[in-house]
Amino acid sequence: MEKVLVVDYGAQYAQLIARRVRECHVLSEIVPHDLSMDGIRALQPAGIILSGGPMSVHSPAAPGVDERLFALGIPVLGICYGQQLMAQALGGEVARTGGGEFGRAELHADSSESTLFSELSPNQTVWMSHNDAVTLPPRGFRTVASTQGSPIASFEDPLRRLFGVQFHPEVSHTSQGTELLKNFLFKGCGLMPSWTMTSIIERAVEEVRNAVGDARVVCALSGGVDSSVAAALVHRAVGDQLTCVFVDHGMLRAGEAEQVEETFRAHLQANLIHIKAGDRFLDELADITDPEVKRKTIGRTFIRVFEEVARDELEDASFLVQGTLYPDVIESGTRVAARIKSHHNVGGLPEDMTFVLVEPLRNLFKDEVRRVGEELGLPEEIVWRQPFPGPGLAVRVIGEVTLERLELVRAADHIVVEEIKRAGLGRSLWQAFAVLVAVGSVGVMGDERTYGHPIVLRAVTSEDAMTADWARLPYEVLEHISNRIVNEVPGVNRVAYDITSKPPGTIEWE
Ligand code: XMP
Repeated sequence: MEKVLVVDYGAQYAQLIARRVRECHVLSEIVPHDLSMDGIRALQPAGIILSGGPMSVHSPAAPGVDERLFALGIPVLGICYGQQLMAQALGGEVARTGGGEFGRAELHADSSESTLFSELSPNQTVWMSHNDAVTLPPRGFRTVASTQGSPIASFEDPLRRLFGVQFHPEVSHTSQGTELLKNFLFKGCGLMPSWTMTSIIERAVEEVRNAVGDARVVCALSGGVDSSVAAALVHRAVGDQLTCVFVDHGMLRAGEAEQVEETFRAHLQANLIHIKAGDRFLDELADITDPEVKRKTIGRTFIRVFEEVARDELEDASFLVQGTLYPDVIESGTRVAARIKSHHNVGGLPEDMTFVLVEPLRNLFKDEVRRVGEELGLPEEIVWRQPFPGPGLAVRVIGEVTLERLELVRAADHIVVEEIKRAGLGRSLWQAFAVLVAVGSVGVMGDERTYGHPIVLRAVTSEDAMTADWARLPYEVLEHISNRIVNEVPGVNRVAYDITSKPPGTIEWE
């Protein structure tokens, strides 16, 4: 499959660029800026995009570009810092022009003479964020667009198929940004919009078949979107060779274990083994308050249970399906092979593991996985499920995890889920949940002093969990949730709403 590389110069927007390219139905991959020329050639890109970045090209520490990149015959689009690097590497000039430009700017383009602006309207609003700017284009380039602050807001060398823009076409404030990217992809690189959900699925199915042959395959199913979609894909590829193992660690949400099993059996005809191991997990967690130790204990216990099942019931299975997503891959560095973060679905895998991993979603973002799930016919309750951490409610019980504290947070969480659903807000939120904190709080109920537990309500919006904002929930919804929790969950006498974004906070409390 032909792809475009997004070379990451530390931009806030590298992921967004990759996503926009994919929205144009072209596969994109993010690579670090110090990837060697051989590394780039080996990936055989049909186009390259150099991202923006926080540095000045004149700073001694600024990441550079190998000029040979521009002689590979592969079309290149430089965005912001990327444009400046291109200008500098090819003999143009970049200078600090004055105050810089931040935010909206009015751009005028000569669309008749340009590939990037072909068939776009000559005037559009663009989004700028820079101090330096190109002041002289390299030989062979011509200026095709300008703003008041950037006389060379875009340039092109049509012969070498090199393009640069000072503004950010990837952000939604640039009114024709996507059209400009399409011009780069389809006219500049000659690509076709062929990376569609159907082609993604067909390709993944084929790859899994080739990798697995007629061996048996196991999938650790959590009931979440990623592992369910991965299971459905692998099931389509190898049918009954697949067995899914669902380990209920007792820290799921109210009714979740039953629901997972029910929907799974109704919609996926794969073999399923459901292990109930709640007591065992709780025993292991006794007296532990440190969040990392908690996570590790859960991860380890999970593996033990999983190994036992694999040994006793799935003797000859040699492949393990994981719902690893593209952000997991980039987060652990773009050079990772099959490294699994300690926080992934299965909670970390043993070093001496003999399974070969099957990760059919490792090129996809979450929203893409959801679309694959829909295309595979998975029901809405699986595909649009909110993400839920592998260690479950244990990360939402701050301090020791006891059955009593777990039940308390589970009951409060159930109310949150119900009320958010009733208000029709489910799809607009990334997650909404309750957290039980480890402090007491004085209250008054029925003329009596109470000393009870505060519950923290957390609701966030996000595109991919890398960043998130606290959700502006309507007051009435907050009121309902608060009233119901205090009235219906014994021991809770206060509800607080977390109004921290990520960063600086994280989504979970731990
Ligand atoms: P944080 O708290 O790091 O969470 O902002 C980001 C997203 O990841 C989810 N999360 C996990 N998912 N296993 C998972 O599969 C885990 O151990 C885990 N911990 C956090 C979290 O719910 C949020 O969506």
